[in-house]
Amino acid sequence: MNEKATYIVMLGPPGAGKGTQAKILAEKLGLVHISTGDLFRENLSQETELGKLASSYMAKGELVPDDVTIAMVKERLSRPDCAKGAVMDGFPRTPAQAEAFEALLAEIGGKVDLVPFISVPNDVLVERLSGRWMSHAGRVYHALYNPPKVKWVDDVDGSPLYQRDDDKPETVLHRINVYYDQTSPLIDFYRQAGKLVEIDGTQEIEQVTEDLLKAVA
Ligand code: AP5
Repeated sequence: MNEKATYIVMLGPPGAGKGTQAKILAEKLGLVHISTGDLFRENLSQETELGKLASSYMAKGELVPDDVTIAMVKERLSRPDCAKGAVMDGFPRTPAQAEAFEALLAEIGGKVDLVPFISVPNDVLVERLSGRWMSHAGRVYHALYNPPKVKWVDDVDGSPLYQRDDDKPETVLHRINVYYDQTSPLIDFYRQAGKLVEIDGTQEIEQVTEDLLKAVA
């Protein structure tokens, strides 16, 4: 049984700031940050079969099939570092994933505690994703809004930064459509469950964090 574990689901469109905030929140709360996008990208860089399969969907801005994604999350949540719970970033992302997640947590005596929905209008999303710079360790920067100390260089380990393939403008627009089509129904799912808290994601990063911490308290 795992009754004291805390599970937070970050919800919002691509570029809303889920990853940026999930990392901060996980650190502050002593929880694990689980990003399905990062897990797929790690698999891709290690050239695993899962990585190859996922990349064929990710490159087009499509979702990786539910069964593959759910199995990956199930394995990740079974590791000992998840004993206190997790901040979920990019999962669940479809009604089927949300149902599977409920069942998965029920098996270990847990439940979703809070769902911060970070809302940001589409034009801002496009601007954020087109200026996003990533480190190979998964740290996220923005050319204007969250720049590294030295352009294109990771503040922490000095390695070069890169732009994600799926941050090309045409793929970004498709990802936003996929979000409205397949993920936005989760807003009502969690609202009806009384777990949704809407957060204004257009504010400065620090202010968004402050609002999130208030919601968690
Ligand atoms: P994933 O990696 O999860 O991408 P995403 O959901 O599209 O989200 P992003 O990472 O693009 O955005 P974010 O909200 O985390 O924003 P960030 O903090 O980086 O998924 C990629 C792909 O993997 C999917 O398309 C799919 O193929 C597959 N996948 C993943 N999960 C899946 C699942 N569950 N099921 C099926 N397939 C799945 O911020 C964006 C930028 O804005 C950064 O540059 C940041 O510095 C900047 N920024 C952040 N906050 C602010 C702020 N307040 N003000 C100004 N700038 C800000």
